Amino acid sequence: MKMNEIRAAFETEITNCQDLQSLQELKVKYLGKSGELTVLLKSIKDLPAEERPSFGAEVNALRGVMEARFAEKTDTLKALDMQRRLQEEKVDISLTSCKPLGASHPVTLIENEICDLLIAMGFEVLTGPEIETDYYNFKALNIPDDHPARDMQDTFYITDSILLRTQTSAMQARLMEKRQPPIKVICPGKVFRSDSDASHSPVFHQIEGLVVDKNITLCDLKGTLEYIASHLFGENTKVRFRPSFFPFTEPSVEVDVTCSNCGGKGCSLCKGTGWIELLGAGMVNPFVLEKCGIDSKKYNGFAFGIGMDRVAMIKYGIPDIRLLFENDQRFLKQFGK
Ligand code: DAH
Repeated sequence: MKMNEIRAAFETEITNCQDLQSLQELKVKYLGKSGELTVLLKSIKDLPAEERPSFGAEVNALRGVMEARFAEKTDTLKALDMQRRLQEEKVDISLTSCKPLGASHPVTLIENEICDLLIAMGFEVLTGPEIETDYYNFKALNIPDDHPARDMQDTFYITDSILLRTQTSAMQARLMEKRQPPIKVICPGKVFRSDSDASHSPVFHQIEGLVVDKNITLCDLKGTLEYIASHLFGENTKVRFRPSFFPFTEPSVEVDVTCSNCGGKGCSLCKGTGWIELLGAGMVNPFVLEKCGIDSKKYNGFAFGIGMDRVAMIKYGIPDIRLLFENDQRFLKQFGK
């Protein structure tokens, strides 16, 4: 082929070239060892000597043009290729996650709420063992072996002296044995009793509160509980104390709050009374303080034990405690999104 024909053919071919693979083949076809241009250059030996220099220069100029065109076309095709891949391999970030979102358990919501309130009042949060000794669960709390108060708490015994704690009150003695006042703690956790019906579950949750210091009164207890109740059930919630008995508090009280459902008028939730029983509390029995090595002439305190499952049931209108433990997602996912 003559130089002009090669130039024209090259122009057409490189213009029509659509991909990097064919461009590479084209490069071999024109500039390779036995390519068109190389063959043309080799034909220089057939020319008369005087024509050789200008012919050589022209071939080299054409090689320069071709190399420049290849470089330029390579850039164009690479850019196109990148654009095509960006289109094809695009990650659709608008696609919603397929993972179902979890929700906090109603008891967890209540626990967080009560803990947050009490932390803000300066209480410290501690947790204790669920497998407990008879000593801390009962004896240290003024409940000796044959005490009738044991009947109120159907206990899961592991051995004669080891059991699943029936009350977070077990933490009271553990703590007071180790620390001198001032003490201001709450202990949330699981407790266990051999009992099961719509309002009792073999496992449930309590928060124990314990304050021991100088000059603590029932008013401090009432103020603390009023603060918790008004935050949990609404500003106008009233709190009342009824005399009761717990071996580890003296005096002991049962604490009721005005029914959050009817505001105290009387409804099916509060069985027409306008009040809902919420927790047990009292002034720490001096016997318990002394047993733990705290001078009961110098210090006194209050304690309370809130059933968190009960609070959740009242607050969210849950009719059966067992719903809290059956792990039915249709029930659970309604809470704490
Ligand atoms: N531990 C008691 C129960 O489970 C509740 C309780 C009552 C806790 C009085 C207290 C308290 O701290 O002072 O029935």
